[in-house]
Amino acid sequence: METQNYKENRFYGRRKGKKLKASRVVLLEAFLPKVRLRSFGDGETVNPADEFSFSPNEVWLEVGFGGGEHLAEQSRRRPETGFIGAEVFVNGVTSLLAHLSGTEGKGNLAPENVGLADGRTDNVRVYDEDVRDLFPHFKDGSFDRIYVLFPDPWPKRKHWGRRFIGPKNLPVLSRLLKSGGELRVASDDMKYIRWSLEHLMKSQDFEWTAERADDWRKPPADWVPTRYEQKALAQGKKPVYLTFRRK
Ligand SMILES: C[S@@+](CC[C@H](N)C(=O)[O-])C[C@H]1O[C@@H](n2cnc3c(N)ncnc32)[C@H](O)[C@@H]1O
Repeated sequence: METQNYKENRFYGRRKGKKLKASRVVLLEAFLPKVRLRSFGDGETVNPADEFSFSPNEVWLEVGFGGGEHLAEQSRRRPETGFIGAEVFVNGVTSLLAHLSGTEGKGNLAPENVGLADGRTDNVRVYDEDVRDLFPHFKDGSFDRIYVLFPDPWPKRKHWGRRFIGPKNLPVLSRLLKSGGELRVASDDMKYIRWSLEHLMKSQDFEWTAERADDWRKPPADWVPTRYEQKALAQGKKPVYLTFRRK
């Protein structure tokens, strides 16, 4: 098992945005503890499927879920699948919590009444810190699918080392995916797409599933739009959707 000192994982993005509304603070204090991934001890390794109160048919990981629109909708559509979502940006975490609790746009939340929205299964575990800190705790082949959607592009050459898809994280993502599992990456930044393709094609562990241009020009059939994707589309950009299979 690879060991990783989490202190090496310096995070360069934003942790906080504008001041949180009172209702979002209630979600953080009263609802996050109900859906938060538990903390793992030093050297503890787990199968993430065991972190749910039911036996999930598959377990999916979403890295950097942003406002959580994708994670909330995928988990609503697939109540039998377990989802682990990681996001450092606290405003994004509260946005996901609002989706999961069905309280978007509502003020005056009573802490004692905040819970999963009606009809939702308890199939999401939230990690509100750097996902790389979690990696050493997960056993090999923990996930059926990993999403990295519209990752920060870090355009300056001196910052390329911060790009999530790259030589440091790809071997870890490969270890964490089951054989036949999928890594899904999307971006509207063509330099990042070229960079990702270069690194993924170099890896012996992944194969690109695309057979024709529409397989990467159009989103996959079970796609759920994300906030950054919507922003890109509104600006006339054309995102690229990559699906790589773990061999
Ligand atoms: C450009 S945003 C995209 C958000 C969302 N996926 C979307 O498509 O709307 C990238 C997000 O990834 C998060 N992020 C980047 N590195 C991360 C890490 N190591 N662990 C957790 N979140 C991370 C950032 O905080 C940011 O919110």
